[in-house]
Amino acid sequence: MNPDQIRSHFPALALTDAGQPRLYLDNPGGTQVAQRVIDRTVSYLTRTNANGGGAFRTSRESDALLDEAHAAMADLLGARSPDEIVFGQNMTTLTFHMSRTLGQQFEAGQEIVVTRMDHDANISPWLLLARDLDMTIRWLPFDTGTFRYDLDVYGSLLSEKTALVALNYASNALGTINPVARMSAMAHEVGALSYVDAVQYVPHGVTDVQALGCDFLVCSPYKFFGPHQGVLWGREELLAGLPPYKVRPADDALPIRHETGTLSHEGMAGTLGVVEYLESLGEGASRRARLVHAMQHIARYEQDLCLRLINRLQELPEITIYGLTDEADMTDRVPTVILDVEGIPARSVAEYLGARNIFVWDGDYYAMEVIDALGHAPSGGLVRIGLAHYNTAQEVDQVCDTLQKMVLESGVRHAF
Ligand SMILES: Cc1ncc(COP(=O)(O)O)c(C=O)c1O
Repeated sequence: MNPDQIRSHFPALALTDAGQPRLYLDNPGGTQVAQRVIDRTVSYLTRTNANGGGAFRTSRESDALLDEAHAAMADLLGARSPDEIVFGQNMTTLTFHMSRTLGQQFEAGQEIVVTRMDHDANISPWLLLARDLDMTIRWLPFDTGTFRYDLDVYGSLLSEKTALVALNYASNALGTINPVARMSAMAHEVGALSYVDAVQYVPHGVTDVQALGCDFLVCSPYKFFGPHQGVLWGREELLAGLPPYKVRPADDALPIRHETGTLSHEGMAGTLGVVEYLESLGEGASRRARLVHAMQHIARYEQDLCLRLINRLQELPEITIYGLTDEADMTDRVPTVILDVEGIPARSVAEYLGARNIFVWDGDYYAMEVIDALGHAPSGGLVRIGLAHYNTAQEVDQVCDTLQKMVLESGVRHAF
């Protein structure tokens, strides 16, 4: 990974404000887009803009491009077929939609397992479905000391009553990568389906839905350098068997039967563009091989960068990190680090950094259960620094230096 070369693909990274560069550490909230995404989007809107199914050039070209977008996402996720890829507005909308679709085969008295580590987009759709169908919710907590699940506790929540487990692949707060392959297998042992939120994992590693053995997996291209959009992967036989919520004239074929209405074609063109960008970073005989190679490199680069960030932050006694911090655990986390600065509210920290063109998140980032479990809901949540493969060691140092300066200026500095 050559950071200069990587950064040259992202026009937003070169922007300055009154001469001051921008430091994007808000990546778990949304990443900057690669030039290829912009080119694909502009090209679609300029040359190919049409609705589907027409007997004329732009409609045919548009349909072909949307097919390409499905095929590209199938390769990124390791799907067996582009028919397993469903595009939608965003992960949240797709999950609400799929929860309703799945609900047609669930019954009162059955159970859904949700976790306290998930973003609410993989909790509320299931809470509301359970309410509507008179199902029971089982909550899986995480250990606030280890920042992981206890799989024995998880196992104790599963029974023949379990209809579905809603799991998160990587936490948008703690950064923990969860053993979703094992957890999906355990769900299958009791006959339950597994629905995996991979929104925060896909930007940081190789996603392989077949190896995971889950039933559904959702992600959001705007979190991996593409446009604002959502993508759902579903096991083909499940998507084919589930009666879709669709209008009568709409095609009943996969995957379109689950893609309600007219999609963001320009967004799908942009998503094709981001897969092409990622593919360009890897080597191999097929697109999937190149993507796997690229994502392996990205993961290794980010693990080093994350360790550097954590080590630097730990030099400041006023800072508490909530998440895995050992060097050996870097492969079990994505480079999303949440922290508390003693005596300074998260919002004030974010404002201090924001005033210096350093962009970080504060609050609960809709991981309200995580922030609650850590006891930080009343104080306005925690600061979140989220790295991506286009961030550099110098940027990591810059945010840590700035935090150190803030602590010194605030007078909360610990005596050594
Ligand atoms: C882990 C996780 N899941 C789901 C979502 C929601 O995604 P979307 O904005 O595509 O609905 C987010 C957004 O931050 C997220 O971080």
